[in-house]
Amino acid sequence: MGRKIFQWNDYNISYYDEGSGDAVILIHAFPLNARMWEPQIKELRDQFRIITVDLPGFGDSRPTPDLLTMELGADLINALLEHLNMEVATIGGLSMGGYVTMAFARKYPRKLGKMILADTRASADTDEARVKREEVAQQVLQEGTIPFVENMLNVILGATTLKKKPEVVNLVKEIMLEANPKAIAAAQRGMALRSDSFDVLEELRIPTLIIVGEEDTVTPKSDAESMQNALKNAALFTIGKAGHLSNLEAPSQFNLALESFLTSDKK
Ligand code: MLT
Repeated sequence: MGRKIFQWNDYNISYYDEGSGDAVILIHAFPLNARMWEPQIKELRDQFRIITVDLPGFGDSRPTPDLLTMELGADLINALLEHLNMEVATIGGLSMGGYVTMAFARKYPRKLGKMILADTRASADTDEARVKREEVAQQVLQEGTIPFVENMLNVILGATTLKKKPEVVNLVKEIMLEANPKAIAAAQRGMALRSDSFDVLEELRIPTLIIVGEEDTVTPKSDAESMQNALKNAALFTIGKAGHLSNLEAPSQFNLALESFLTSDKK
């Protein structure tokens, strides 16, 4: 796959633009990068144009900001659309990528054609969660990425994957270890500042696909149902035997949901 770079303000932004057909932009989770979408590119590139991007500080996008707010992510996606001469796009993200998608929906609603929200939530952090994020940020800046990743693996992956899919565990570990401590801290602090997005969802009329792994304990099915209730036009797809990283843990089911959503107005 060919990595591309574009210049946005002071950043060199790395992205992939693969396949042809209707376009979909996919935004990665924390603390991963655009590599996490490889199973989607591999399976769906014959039918769709799939664009994935590294948020600033992750993957190959540099430099690392001090604070990665969800608005910064939304502005980056807007810049990517301009760079690709796209006026409207289908945009989706998983977890932190979902937060960025909702920030984009708030700031650039007319540029959002369809939306995909996978293993994410519309609520802001509780005060307790914000304190925890700051502790994690400081810990990672002091101790580095490895202890954090070891811990996170057991939280982010579902019980079935942890037990039965060592190749997925190893791949997720490898991708997470690519994250530098400064980027982890910047994203933790940025996510802590995000606002509640239910008001945005309530205004949207666009077709939306919500996906959740049934073993997701980070953003469980109740979060997905709350988003579906707030939206006017949303379908919810639950993926069996998958945790928070449902696109990597159960790619066939995830891809099926995506394919059916992206072609639904064409049948
Ligand atoms: C993610 O997967 O992006 C994170 O778990 C999101 C979060 O920490 O809220």
